[in-house]
Amino acid sequence: MPDKATTLILFGATGDLAARMLLPSLYGLVRDGLLPENLRIVATARSAHDDASFGALALEALKAHVPAAAFEPEAADRFLEKVSYVTLDATDADGYKRLAEAAGTPGETAIFLSTAPSLFKPTIDNLAAVGLAGDHVRLALEKPLGSDLASSCQINDAVASAFPESQTFRIDHYLGKETVQNLLALRFANLLFEPVWSARFIDHVQITVSETIGLEGRGDYYDGAGALRDMVQNHMLQLLALVAMEPPSHFDATAVRDEKVKVLRSLRPIRAEDSVIGQYAGGAVGNQPVGSYAEDLGRTSGTETFVALKAHVDNWRWAGVPFYLRTGKRCPERKTEIAIQFKDVPHSMFASRGAGAAPNRLIIAIQPEENITLELMAKQPGLDRGGIRLREVPLAIGRADAFADVRRRIAYERLLLDLIEGDPTLFVRRDEVEAQWQWVDGIRAAWAQAGMQPRPYASGTWGPSAAIALIERDGRSWND
Ligand code: BG6
Repeated sequence: MPDKATTLILFGATGDLAARMLLPSLYGLVRDGLLPENLRIVATARSAHDDASFGALALEALKAHVPAAAFEPEAADRFLEKVSYVTLDATDADGYKRLAEAAGTPGETAIFLSTAPSLFKPTIDNLAAVGLAGDHVRLALEKPLGSDLASSCQINDAVASAFPESQTFRIDHYLGKETVQNLLALRFANLLFEPVWSARFIDHVQITVSETIGLEGRGDYYDGAGALRDMVQNHMLQLLALVAMEPPSHFDATAVRDEKVKVLRSLRPIRAEDSVIGQYAGGAVGNQPVGSYAEDLGRTSGTETFVALKAHVDNWRWAGVPFYLRTGKRCPERKTEIAIQFKDVPHSMFASRGAGAAPNRLIIAIQPEENITLELMAKQPGLDRGGIRLREVPLAIGRADAFADVRRRIAYERLLLDLIEGDPTLFVRRDEVEAQWQWVDGIRAAWAQAGMQPRPYASGTWGPSAAIALIERDGRSWND
């Protein structure tokens, strides 16, 4: 195992992600004694603060974003004792000397860039100039890691000029979610699923990431990205890769990422007719009236807030098995879910008695609840005429019941801990991110060639009706 970091430098420390996720995660790790005793945290951003005023800001963030039951004032003090602050304009080379001084002459250093991607290159160059780069420094980068393959390569080249790939930790926060990791346990720590995990037994796979929120004041970024680049390029393709990959030989960064990248490279280019894009119009979400995307943005726009795709992984295991993906803002519910739909039994002996059997389905619910449910057929108790009536019954593992004694954690707690401990298994490797962009660039090119524009859908619905038609024309339906 590599040495644990003794300094963590957090860029973008006064930003929204820091307040909502990063500071609460670091607090949680300190509270539970999971970080090295000697770890110091150097927070930095452009806003002028000293240690005390940043400490006050950080405390406010903890009070606002750590659930009351998990907030312990004494632990917050212990956390804040570790934190110092350096005011720094990321493009001002001189300021980095102060940063290097504040970091001291540490052993391993971890740097977390939670800043605009336009600042990545100048930041990296400036870090390198003061010796905060190279083999003893780990660099974590937040998305967006580019807006297409070319810009992603530029970022990756800038990173590679100062940090070896082994020290580069590209964040996809979905990989920090418990149930996402549990997918690996489900597939590879049980004998039951792997033998049926293929085109022989699986009819299709659905991956849904629906949100009820709209633009949330992120118009500047989101309107330039859209649902495909905001959600599919990263989170959904990671989920797909974990579902579809071959069993890695070890749970380590090389073996797991080698298998994921093979899947990403096997994705068939998407045709325009295998995709649907939408943009939310006014409507209601949970009885709450909400405005349209154009109203939220303050202008009209051709950016999609919903996308549905029918994808294929062109390899032996998955030949002919569609992977239906959909994600959108202003949907009726917040839900991240993977549904594995198995095929029908090859012959039903009950059919002669008029009893129908629905094919089995495995539902992996990632959020808001963390559940795994296997839908099985059972005999409905009773003396039905003809002898039997079948009914679907769930065999369910609910996190809340099975692991009631284990605290639910923010995905970033896992990722920050792994960054500090130097384990890149749950981070995205360069070849993965580039394969993701390559596929997504192809989709955008197909849309442009077909002149596709997003279709309006009422807020509070599952996207444009064409998204339902996309799956129903294949005789299947979304798992709603
Ligand atoms: C982010 C996207 O990466 O993921 C957001 O930029 C989205 O638009 C968010 O809301 C969803 O994350 P989660 O963890 O709430 O599913």
